[in-house]
Amino acid sequence: MIVKPMPPEADRRSQDIQQSFLSLSEHLPDLIARLDRDGRYCYANSALAGLAGRPAAQMVGHRLGEVLAQRTSPAIPDDFIALREGIPRVFATGETVEREAGLPLPGDERIFNVRLVPERDESGAIVNVLLIGRDITQRKRAEDALRNSERDLNEAQRVAKIGNWRFDLRFNSVTWSAELYRMFGVQAADFARTYEAFLSRIHPDDRVRVAQTSAQTLADGKSFQLEYRIVLPGGEIRTIREIGNAIAGPEGQITGLFGTAQDITESRRGADALRASERRFARAEEQLGQARAELTRVARAMLVGELATSIAHEVNQPLTCVVTNAEAALRWLAADPPNFVQASTALERIIRDGNRAAAVVARIRILLKNGKSTKTRFKLDIAISDLLALMEGEARRRQVELQVRIAPDLPAVIADRVQLQQVLLNLTVNAFDALDNVQDRPRQVEIEAEPVGPASVQVCVRDSGVGLAGPPWDRVFDAFYTTKPDGLGMGLTISRTIIESHGGRLWAQPNQGPGVSFRFTLPIDDQITA
Ligand SMILES: Nc1ncnc2c1ncn2[C@@H]1O[C@H](COP(=O)(O)OP(=O)(O)O)[C@@H](O)[C@H]1O
Ligand SMILES: [Mg+2]
Repeated sequence: MIVKPMPPEADRRSQDIQQSFLSLSEHLPDLIARLDRDGRYCYANSALAGLAGRPAAQMVGHRLGEVLAQRTSPAIPDDFIALREGIPRVFATGETVEREAGLPLPGDERIFNVRLVPERDESGAIVNVLLIGRDITQRKRAEDALRNSERDLNEAQRVAKIGNWRFDLRFNSVTWSAELYRMFGVQAADFARTYEAFLSRIHPDDRVRVAQTSAQTLADGKSFQLEYRIVLPGGEIRTIREIGNAIAGPEGQITGLFGTAQDITESRRGADALRASERRFARAEEQLGQARAELTRVARAMLVGELATSIAHEVNQPLTCVVTNAEAALRWLAADPPNFVQASTALERIIRDGNRAAAVVARIRILLKNGKSTKTRFKLDIAISDLLALMEGEARRRQVELQVRIAPDLPAVIADRVQLQQVLLNLTVNAFDALDNVQDRPRQVEIEAEPVGPASVQVCVRDSGVGLAGPPWDRVFDAFYTTKPDGLGMGLTISRTIIESHGGRLWAQPNQGPGVSFRFTLPIDDQITA
């Protein structure tokens, strides 16, 4: 190397510069070294020496990477080999070479940003290379963490179909997360990132509402929730739910909006389909209810039809009396002198018998009534004796011995009286029917009502009839199951529905002897036991 003689003034200045360079370099946390053409250390600062774990003087003359390799061992790190290759390039081109270099220190991987800078003499010739290494490990880790969390967020948004956005009022700039671009079906390059560009993607019918909401929030700072439709570039329409807030600047002034947007098209479609099917179900249920009510009415009418003979008898008897008494009254009045006392006795009998006939008709009308279920609180014995008034004549006509036993102090129930009478009527008529062909034994039907357990009453209708055709006994409750030529097979089905809708049970059981017992329970009204 040619060393030109320097004038003393310049020499001192140069020494000063050299001195300040050294003290600066010794105090910087950055790694600083001077390397010759072969990549050998001419100088290393204390930060670098500290990292190498050697006094700086011992590093001089060693090639770049050799000393550090002794710490990382066994081989020289690849990044340092690459750095070495940068040195001839600096000499050849005079340009700064910049590289990242990882130093795999045991238990403490460090990353450096390394710059190789040409060092020139007064003539401008490159004489050395200055190495400046800055520890960027922290920054790198922070960057990695940020990248990871961005990736996680992006992935989470993709899965949840939720994107976030930001609108900066000051620059009229809109920032979208990747999921928002996906949601709107827009490439980042095709989106002008202004509020107007965002509005233009919204369904024309919803645009004004969205703009108004944004304006409102910019004015009052209140958060908002909004649903609107967007039109994808292909024309597809999707529904977005948006939740947004105002962004406030340091002095509280509103500088923009921030929020999330979720594509709810599918969940909305699902909800619509669910609602539609619920509506269909409700309609079907309603139709079923109507059909059931109609069947109930038919079954009830048939039951009463079966009783027609008895009913006619019940009504005829008082009517015959009415006629007889009316004739008597006329006779007493036509007598000379008229016997008013006898006439009025006859007239009172007419009134009594008329009322009797009217009561029978009223009972039948109640039974045939086609109304909604109305539950009242009453004692079962009343319902039973009411029914007996209709059944006794029928029992006589069919030559059936009808016995009724009701336990004293029977607790009251809350029930639909007409429906319960319908159940009793059906069970009793079935029992009568079962006795039709029985000649070899007493023809008996017993109705019993008694409390069972603390919370229910039980009614049993027992007959000595033909019995059930065989197990399963429950088959008789199937709809349209009948063994009668004119049977409908709905009586027991309806009866069971009625009892179960009252919270009770209805079942059949063959007797020890001939015949079968139908039993039902009803929960008693708590009021009375309390
Ligand atoms: N007490 C009974 N004894 C024998 N069989 C019965 C009795 N009650 C009901 N059944 C049987 O159950 C069937 C269904 O009864 P139900 O549902 O009332 O319809 P229906 O009386 O119109 O036949 C009857 O046809 C009969 O075969
Ligand atoms: Mg029946």
